[in-house]
Amino acid sequence: MPALVLLGAQWGDEGKGKATDLLGGSVDYVVRYQGGNNAGHTVVVGDQKYALHLLPSGILSPGCTPVIGNGVVVDPSVLFSELNGLNDRGVDTSKLLISGNAHIITPYNVTVDKVTERFLGKRKIGTTGRGIGPTYADKINRVGIRIQDLYDESILTQKVEAALDGKNQLLTKVFNRRAIEVGQVVEELLSYADRLKPYVADTVLVLNQALEQDKVVLFEGGQGTLLDIDHGTYPFVTSSNPTAGGACTGAGVGPTKISRVIGILKAYTTRVGSGPFPTELFDEDGDALRRIGGERGVTTGRDRRCGWFDAVIARYATRVNGLTDFFLTKLDVLTGWEQIPVCVAYEIDGERVEELPYSQTDFHHAKPVYEYLPGWSEDITKAKSFSDLPKNAQDYVKALEEMSGAPISAIGVGPGRDETIEINSFL
Ligand code: GDP
Ligand code: IMO
Ligand code: MG
Repeated sequence: MPALVLLGAQWGDEGKGKATDLLGGSVDYVVRYQGGNNAGHTVVVGDQKYALHLLPSGILSPGCTPVIGNGVVVDPSVLFSELNGLNDRGVDTSKLLISGNAHIITPYNVTVDKVTERFLGKRKIGTTGRGIGPTYADKINRVGIRIQDLYDESILTQKVEAALDGKNQLLTKVFNRRAIEVGQVVEELLSYADRLKPYVADTVLVLNQALEQDKVVLFEGGQGTLLDIDHGTYPFVTSSNPTAGGACTGAGVGPTKISRVIGILKAYTTRVGSGPFPTELFDEDGDALRRIGGERGVTTGRDRRCGWFDAVIARYATRVNGLTDFFLTKLDVLTGWEQIPVCVAYEIDGERVEELPYSQTDFHHAKPVYEYLPGWSEDITKAKSFSDLPKNAQDYVKALEEMSGAPISAIGVGPGRDETIEINSFL
């Protein structure tokens, strides 16, 4: 079982960092395949807490090679500050590999992200402001800058010129901003070249050779299924494919190589930024989930919107990703509720709907249909096996599994590495 994909089954922040880190000790490679430093993955090891944005969570496991795949967008200044931060804490980062085909988030991409959001006003996406969308837009428009371009100054200059041509028109004439100078951008980008050089590799070749040698490769998704550009709640999405197929294109590994796809699923739901969210709570329960679950963005510090578990979404995630397993996280946060509502279907314009509607209009009208499951009050953070959980917590997990369409193979009962109940081994 050499290649596993681990991805978010909801709107991100499900606990992917913790889950990846947990497996990191037993895998040879951990690969980020999409997104960039819009991600915020928290890993807690003993009394140490790490917030990773661009680096794969496997960077914290000494035996593991972390890889930034071709599908990722890289802001070199963020990468360096993340590496410096880890080095200062004694983490060895020398094994990192970065695809030469990964696109660079340039300073003008960050500027365009911010001014576009401001321009959208009430209709804004609520992006992380890290330049993600504009960088992917440049990639698709074929005016992107790749890591490998840093090693040919003449090509780099021509490419930055091509990218800035239209953007400067837009910045000056539409957004009333100053034009950005080609020379300044080229100079900044070139200043990153030497430090990046030792990490740059043909990661497609490396990963495929590793798989041929039966090495274990784990693909770590950023964001989540409902933030996917194709399968998410468009346009309130990120500009890449966090879903399972993204691992193939974003790392250059064929689908026949993927043996397991694990969906990380929070025992309730959260979302950051704008967009529809049927089970969102605006009451004390929402505040309590936010407080107890520590639901504050790792990247932007924004409060996360909170709501009850949505089984319609979980089923959808199973379908579009071909999930083989779920890792249910943050079950401990639900301790103390007498009854826990779970959304089993939607009501849309008076009709009961069991599956996620494909129409954006319908989804915006979806009202949750709840079933109420009995809660528990016992502390579950020390539980080591499924049978250690109180009966009602066991039943909650079994009910979610039944509704979601794939086995729940692990349960998180706290943020720490060891606060996990393993039911079926992932390896
Ligand atoms: P990611 O983006 O999917 O990696 O998730 P984040 O790190 O943004 O958010 C998940 C938060 O939940 C982090 O603060 C984790 O430390 C924490 N966490 C992960 N699993 C559990 C769990 O099972 N229980 C509790 N209480 N916290 C958890
Ligand atoms: P992790 O990996 C939660 C959201 C933003 C915004 C939308 C588009 O930690 O789960 P972008 O900057 O990507 O163009 O913003 O996507 N978003 C996330 N929400 N967790 C994330 O990452 C996210 N990355 C982006 O809030 O709504
Ligand atoms: Mg996060």
